[in-house]
Amino acid sequence: MQLKAETVLERVTEGDVMGGSKAPSGLAAARPESDPATPAPVVDIKDLSLTYEAADGPVYALSNVNLQIAEGEFVSFIGPSGCGKTTLLRVIADLEQPNGGHIHVNGVSPSEARVRRDYGFIFQAPALYPWRTIQKNVELPLEIFGISKGERRERSRRQLELVNLKGFEKKFPWQLSGGMQQRASIARALSFDPRLLLMDEPFGALDEIVRDHLNEQLLKLWDKTRKTVLFVTHSIPEAVFLSSMIVVMSPRPGRIIDIIDASHLGRERKLEIRETPEFLKIAHRVREGLRAGHSYDD
Ligand SMILES: Nc1ncnc2c1ncn2[C@@H]1O[C@H](COP(=O)(O)OP(=O)(O)OP(=O)(O)O)[C@@H](O)[C@H]1O
Ligand SMILES: [Mg+2]
Repeated sequence: MQLKAETVLERVTEGDVMGGSKAPSGLAAARPESDPATPAPVVDIKDLSLTYEAADGPVYALSNVNLQIAEGEFVSFIGPSGCGKTTLLRVIADLEQPNGGHIHVNGVSPSEARVRRDYGFIFQAPALYPWRTIQKNVELPLEIFGISKGERRERSRRQLELVNLKGFEKKFPWQLSGGMQQRASIARALSFDPRLLLMDEPFGALDEIVRDHLNEQLLKLWDKTRKTVLFVTHSIPEAVFLSSMIVVMSPRPGRIIDIIDASHLGRERKLEIRETPEFLKIAHRVREGLRAGHSYDD
């Protein structure tokens, strides 16, 4: 499979799919013509579908998904429960195999990207080992990859500092708050310097104040590291606050019903931005998309 180097990130301009349940079938298809100056997308998905074969029949999880993500984007996926957000992230990370369509990650197949250690995955629960200290948890992937002890120490020190956990290296996970544990899991995912950070509702279980704080920290981290982040959330304010691009999905089978450019909000955002008309306009559009896709609103 060859990646078309000329493909470019398509951004649907605001208003394109506003208003009701207008079908998004041409969302990613209406891509601009080739521009050799535009770098190839980090994630390139065409006509992707995935059906789970369950005991009581097939589950159509994803249908006709088209998406391009450029390097350094912060992309949020939002949609109702069961619409296939986790499935999509897992396909990108080579943890699920699609039934149809094409997917390239950094120009290669997801399995090649996984072998190359392109991914850092952060789950809803921090998934830290309780018998290892925070530092030892962060160093775990590096141990598995056979990195020397000195290098491991240096990298874990740097990553823990980046997520503001300096001084907590020798603590065990159960001695830390939920938010701190989640930051430790972010440090662990960053430890081997993956090109892509995949985050599946990482702050879903945290209270709003802690979540706000972590959102601000995550934005700073994104700005410092320049990683490409794919972030699943159920929260509209969280999606708008964090993202340069928001992907709105429909109920099962998951389809993309809107792609919203939020890059004009800038990279450095304070929580107060949530009161601004620009922010509220994007939030409104996300809500409209979710409403339009919801079958019980019919
Ligand atoms: N291993 C599996 N076998 C069968 N069906 C599955 C499997 N994993 C997920 N599904 C089904 O696929 C659909 C999409 O699931 P997925 O976990 O991707 O949804 P989601 O959007 O992440 O939901 P949530 O917001 O609740 O986390 C759901 O109907 C789910 O029941
Ligand atoms: Mg999920």
